[in-house]
Amino acid sequence: MEFILVTPQAQPHVALIQLNRPKELNALNLQLMGELRDALKELDENEEVRAIVITGNARAFAAGADIKQMAGKTAIDMLNIDQFSTWDQIRKTKKPIIAAVSGFALGGGCELAMTCDMIVASETAMFGQPEIKIGVMPGAGGTQRLTKAIGKAKAMEMVLTGKFISAEEAEKQGLINRVVPVELYLEEAFKLAGEIAQMSPVAVKLAKESVNRAFETQLDEGLHFERKNFYLCFASEDQTEGMNAFVEKRKPEFKGR
Ligand code: HXC
Repeated sequence: MEFILVTPQAQPHVALIQLNRPKELNALNLQLMGELRDALKELDENEEVRAIVITGNARAFAAGADIKQMAGKTAIDMLNIDQFSTWDQIRKTKKPIIAAVSGFALGGGCELAMTCDMIVASETAMFGQPEIKIGVMPGAGGTQRLTKAIGKAKAMEMVLTGKFISAEEAEKQGLINRVVPVELYLEEAFKLAGEIAQMSPVAVKLAKESVNRAFETQLDEGLHFERKNFYLCFASEDQTEGMNAFVEKRKPEFKGR
């Protein structure tokens, strides 16, 4: 891996992926995205891993797709490169992913953070979809996920003017989970991931899949999907263990079965 650093057990049951093109503000070139896809697939299959944190560095989570790599491309080049199949695979990661964001999360960087399941940000984080300023528009889900997260009016303004919002504003708008001082954002993301890692991995996977369905379906279908996954939890040993532990007033020991 040239452009990312992977630590499968950064904390017990929590993996860390660090985007690592610091000089380019972690601009997401095709190679980096391919490495990210491969790493997530491996971590998804690693039974020791129960939650994943993706981060950049203090200055930038990621300043967008690599503009230099895209600059000379035609529409047909872009179609043939088919970079979004990589993004689709990332989106299908079953384990929960927390983005730990500091500095710039712009364009594809903001979209990558939104593709994660939760976002913990430092006070210095800035979120934006500035593609309009370079004559294009968001392409990796920004128009959809941002609109669902913060509503039409605010999303429209960000997408049509390219203006950035601060971490504080992003929290107020419901785009992110919380804001902490810059020296604490990674720690805070690990804390959240650690909390999730103590739960039943089976229930976490089914619950993540169900929450995501809310974005993809109408209510009737979503409720049906949720119910099906709820019943499925009762086929797991973790459900028995979790409920018995509650009744017996002890801490459950989840095994992911
Ligand atoms: C390629 C980038 C880059 C990017 C920064 N760099 N962002 N290279 N693609 N998206 C490079 C710069 O060219 C520069 O390299 C180095 O990183 C440092 O950046 P500076 O501009 O010198 O830093 P600063 O003045 O602090 O400005 C920071 C910034 C600015 C405001 C974040 O870099 C910027 O506006 N970047 C582009 C943001 C953007 O438009 N993102 C959306 C991209 S389109 P050199 O070699 O000159 O030192 C997109 C589409 C997604 O994301 C849909 C498909 C996936």
